[in-house]
Amino acid sequence: MTTKVTDAEAALKAAQEASVALNKSIAESPEKHRMLTGDRPTGALHIGHLFGSLQNRVRLQNQGVESFVVIADYQVLTDRSEAEGIDNNVRELVLDYLAAGLNVDGSKTYIFPHSHVPALNQLLLPFLTLVSMADLERNPTIKEEIQAAHLKTVNASMFVYPVHQAADILFCNATVVPVGKDQLPHLEISRKIARRFNKNYPGDRPTFRMPQPLLSESYMIRGLDGTQKMSKSRNNAIFLKNTEAETTKLLKRAKTDTDRNITYDPVNRPEVANLLDIYTLATGISQEEIARDIGDGGSGTLKVNLSKALNEYLAPMRERRVTLEQTPGIVEATLQEGVAKAQEVANETLLKVLKVMNMAYDIEAEKKSP
Ligand code: TRP
Repeated sequence: MTTKVTDAEAALKAAQEASVALNKSIAESPEKHRMLTGDRPTGALHIGHLFGSLQNRVRLQNQGVESFVVIADYQVLTDRSEAEGIDNNVRELVLDYLAAGLNVDGSKTYIFPHSHVPALNQLLLPFLTLVSMADLERNPTIKEEIQAAHLKTVNASMFVYPVHQAADILFCNATVVPVGKDQLPHLEISRKIARRFNKNYPGDRPTFRMPQPLLSESYMIRGLDGTQKMSKSRNNAIFLKNTEAETTKLLKRAKTDTDRNITYDPVNRPEVANLLDIYTLATGISQEEIARDIGDGGSGTLKVNLSKALNEYLAPMRERRVTLEQTPGIVEATLQEGVAKAQEVANETLLKVLKVMNMAYDIEAEKKSP
């Protein structure tokens, strides 16, 4: 057990250090990189997504990195059997992406659902031959997800989706994959597949580049209960699409404690500290300074001030989102552009893969020969 913790901690530390170097390389030569990230379309995005990953993606995009954003619709079915509402969730997701600033004019950003890119999905088949059952079964994130979903039976895609995720990442030869730490085991599988593929099928030069995780520097926001990760299913989230009044009401309900004197003490006062963290993310003012300003004004004052600051911060995104919602065809056009580009890139990659695997049979030539 102790060695396991040490392994995970060592991996996290290594990834953090590598992220610093990677950020430097991106700043120096963005054109040498390609970013890929994605989300499962399970509903609208909340401020945990915004501060945890969306902003990081927008930053990379604006630095000039070509960016692919996969909507992992097949992956939704790993822990449920019904696809009800996926279409609407995809729509909400695209609106949130656009509102947050992805795919602005002049950017090279492509948003696509992987279900619409056949050649990407076909990479799954050779990739499955490059991992062992043991590789899949010891993945700690999968174990946690199985527990969290209280599944009676676990379908095979639950174990295999990290391999599908490798196809999401490698089809476009991504070098940068901005993720949270829970995704690090999946990225290790992608790297293992890239390494083994290049070794087994050398060709003239390596088919795949090595994708690297980019851990975002920002805090992990907890929900309004102050203890659990912010998430829709835990009913503790503030969504991008919430109105200002809804946001204020949600914050009023947030859990705090009875000490009127506001201090920043993440260990002993996690709920108040979480609100202060959100405040800092929205304003750039340090938690300590905010706490000092409020003093013994109590959590009521903290909540009122935070509502104002957060609403102000989110206002431009929310305005954009409302405009986008009322723009007919905007979601469809975004996906059409993304799918076209992803298909083009995936077809090229699949052809390369088939060639080095001696499977690019020349059917035309056969017909022509006497
Ligand atoms: N597994 C990711 C999640 O649940 C979503 C995802 C799918 C993803 N494919 C990806 C993330 C590729 C990064 C890269 O959040």
